[in-house]
Order: sequence, then structure tokens, then C-alpha cells
Amino acid sequence: MIVTIDGPAAAGKSTVARRLARRLGFRYLDTGAMYRAATWKALRCGADLEAPETLAEVVRNADIQLKADGRVLCDGQDVTQVIRSPEVTGNIYRVADDAAARQALIRQQRKLAATDNLVAEGRDQGSEVFPDAEVKFYLHASLKVRAGRRLDELRNADKDVSLAEVQRQIVLRDRRDRSRPVGSLRRTGDMIFIDSTDLSVEQVVQVMLDHVEDRLAGGPS
Ligand code: DC
Repeated sequence: MIVTIDGPAAAGKSTVARRLARRLGFRYLDTGAMYRAATWKALRCGADLEAPETLAEVVRNADIQLKADGRVLCDGQDVTQVIRSPEVTGNIYRVADDAAARQALIRQQRKLAATDNLVAEGRDQGSEVFPDAEVKFYLHASLKVRAGRRLDELRNADKDVSLAEVQRQIVLRDRRDRSRPVGSLRRTGDMIFIDSTDLSVEQVVQVMLDHVEDRLAGGPS
């Protein structure tokens, strides 16, 4: 079974997807981490980020592994921390905007679905990568709440930033994610819309679990 969670940056997709996967005994597919690892590799090997074919080639040859304990490996190296660095984050759009590089990552994502039950999280999972997924969610939250959550995360990691700056970055990412020529963030009619603005993580997970369990029992999703 495939469960997808699409939605904008900082809506809480990763936290919710990880918990939902654990509760269901499914594998959690953090596709953002794949885009991050691919970007890290492209930067590290000095690939010409302006040359689409080079970039796709680097991505095709990247051995990205998402471990059950949350670690991310790229070509055998533990990149869990470094893929969250501002340098990587600031360059992801180069991979994310590149059709051939996306195809290489999508191929890897679909391969996993052939063997495992998945909770797949990312901006294009229900709309593009797994259009026939059994249960598809779109996770929304207001800009204010998303910025507040991201600010808490950053402050917990001892990063000194203002709410206004975090909000500005989220607006910029939203714009990029929605206007991307390929794999853009898009809500389709068959997605179950969840507004998490006033819900706790546990409440969101419970709503999702109810839908998945209905579906597993043969009812509507
Ligand atoms: O979820 P995240 O913040 O780790 O994702 C990082 C970036 O990767 C995001 O800004 C856009 C890109 N991405 C994508 O284009 N498609 C996905 N399925 C997941 C992430």
C-alpha cells in the first residue's frame, strides 16, 4: 500500500509522515532528503550546476540510502546533518527544477514502492510520482503557523533568526515549489485535505490513521 503526503514547506509533513509510518509499520520515504543528498553530491563533486545533463548524470550515479533509523547515506557517507546546511538548502532548486535529475530520483522512489508499503512524503508524491496511491493527503497550515514551527526548530538548534526572515524564506520556497516547471506542488482533487493550523501532530496523525484504516478495511479513503 502507498500513502502519500504532499504539501508546502514546513507544513509538518516529515514529522507526521515518520509517525504515521511507525504506527502503520510502513516504510517512511523522505523524498526531500533524497533531493538534499543529490544536491550535496553535486556540490561536493564540483558538477557544473548549470549543465542539466551533468547534473542528471551525477544524480543517476548517486547511491542514496534512507535508513530506518533516519540516517541518510550518499555513496556510503553519512550526510544526515550536512544535507540540512544552508549551502545545500540554497542549491536544491537546481536539482528540483531539473527534469532529468527529477526523473532519476523518481525512478528510485518507485523502485522502493515495488517492495515496501510506503508513507511517501514530498511535494509531488501524490500528484506525480504515485498518482494511483491508495490514500493521498494534502497537508496544509497557515503561513504564520509554518513560520512559527520552523522558527522553533531553528532556535532549538541554536540558530539565531527572526520570525520575519523565516517567513520570507518560506514565501520564497512556496513560490519556487508552486511555479517549478516540473514536479510542482499541486493539490489534486483526489487528495484528502488536512488543515493542521490548529491541530497537534498527534491529532493530524490520528486523522490520517483513521483514513488509512478505513481504506485497509475496504471502505472509502
Ligand atoms: O522537504 P524538504 O524541505 O527536505 O525538501 C527540500 C527541497 O527539495 C524542497 O524545497 C523542494 C525539493 N523537493 C522536491 O522538489 N520534490 C520532493 N518530492 C521533495 C523535495
